[in-house]
Amino acid sequence: MQLIEGLGVRLRPADEADRERFHEILACPEVATWWGDPDEQADEAVNPHEDVRSFAIERQDEDGTGPTVVGLIQTWEDTTPDYEHAGLDIAVHPDWQRRGIGGAALYVLAHYLFEVEGHHRLTIDPAADNKPAVSLYRKLGFREVGIMREYERRADGVVRDGLLMDLLDGELVEPPSH
Ligand SMILES: CC(C)(COP(=O)(O)OP(=O)(O)OC[C@H]1O[C@@H](n2cnc3c(N)ncnc32)[C@H](O)[C@@H]1OP(=O)(O)O)[C@@H](O)C(=O)NCCC(=O)NCCS
Repeated sequence: MQLIEGLGVRLRPADEADRERFHEILACPEVATWWGDPDEQADEAVNPHEDVRSFAIERQDEDGTGPTVVGLIQTWEDTTPDYEHAGLDIAVHPDWQRRGIGGAALYVLAHYLFEVEGHHRLTIDPAADNKPAVSLYRKLGFREVGIMREYERRADGVVRDGLLMDLLDGELVEPPSH
């Protein structure tokens, strides 16, 4: 795995040393609402299943120090012949949200998956009521495929709908800089 850089962010393959910071990010209520149990999720992020790749989203600090890990992003691959595609998931620390980081990280990873790895279709599946995420994914060119009813059990134990979105090669839109 390699570093993927662009639009002011750097995606560095995650390792065990990222566990504490990932946990800190995933335990923030604004993130945990959508990602679920921070212990489990941090563990999976630093020890991903073999078809999953996990990256720390790094941002160079303005005073030249850092870089700071401001979020995490993952991609998984379905390699079933004739159905190949890759999925994405992301979390940005609340202190760093709304500064263009989520859009930049998704853009550079999607660009890499299309241009370097030759994928033709990417998917993402936010909770249907995750308005910030759905709004961002639309801006990047993802389209709604449809509602997946009673898709996921959330931290409060209630099963809620998910929204399947997809993006084909040639549809990716560069996010505006913030
Ligand atoms: C969704 C998420 C990754 C977006 O990251 P981010 O760094 O804030 O994204 P950006 O700054 O690039 O967002 C740009 C666009 O996203 C949407 N957006 C982001 N935060 C939003 C909010 N709080 N309310 C409404 N729209 C929002 C807007 O369309 C925004 O465009 P604008 O700033 O021009 O209005 C981030 O909010 C997050 O980590 N949320 C918690 C975890 C999560 O929901 N992950 C997704 C699971 S599928």
